[in-house]
Amino acid sequence: MVDVAIIGGTGLNSLKTLTITHREMVQTPYGAPSGPAVHGEVGGREVVFMARHGSGHTIPPHKVNYRANIWALRSLGVRKVISVTAVGGISAQMTPGRLAFPDQIIDYTWSRDNTYFEENLESVTHIDFTYPYCQELRESLITAAQDAGIDAAQGGTYGATQGPRLETSAEIVRMERDGCDLVGMTGMPEAALARELDLCYATCAVIANWAAGKGDGVITMEDIDRHLKTGMDQVRSLLEHILKVI
Ligand code: HPA
Repeated sequence: MVDVAIIGGTGLNSLKTLTITHREMVQTPYGAPSGPAVHGEVGGREVVFMARHGSGHTIPPHKVNYRANIWALRSLGVRKVISVTAVGGISAQMTPGRLAFPDQIIDYTWSRDNTYFEENLESVTHIDFTYPYCQELRESLITAAQDAGIDAAQGGTYGATQGPRLETSAEIVRMERDGCDLVGMTGMPEAALARELDLCYATCAVIANWAAGKGDGVITMEDIDRHLKTGMDQVRSLLEHILKVI
């Protein structure tokens, strides 16, 4: 049974280093996931890959069926999930092109299906979410980055926004005041759903741009694409390293 999954975000719709064995469309009580679970091997290690925004990158952040995606991976036997996600950098050390492994979350999203615990309950359930990411997996990411010679930020608070638009500069000032170091649109409810299903979940954030108002002028797609490309090359190398040790 496969026990490690990679959820790929913007810039990582497929995994070049993955030797694909088969694709599997998993049905869930919450509807269809973003696409097939792509089974394969990276460096001899069995792994399953799912493209969060669909293989053609057509599902926007607020329309992703996070419940179906996480449920599908769990039903395949997955215990560890590495989520790869594009973000904007808010604090000074979060420079575009760099990777970051956040350790905290502030959730600004709304109106997303954000729990499995809402119907047919025997009792109301509140998961502990004090430390939203799996520390063991975060440490493996940190070590793998060091082994691969990748300069990555070893912590930080991820602010999850609703999207699909980018933020205003005033929103980023508020988020910075709140303590956010990074801003992205897909970190929640994905992390909380993973915790509800008792999965070990950690995020590798790829800093694609300075958050609104933090760089010069407006944010362009060309800038984002350029930094994502640099970042994703590092992600591929990081994944090869981490899959050897987890
Ligand atoms: N804001 C929100 N999500 C993002 C950004 C951003 O600046 N860049 C990449 N994903």
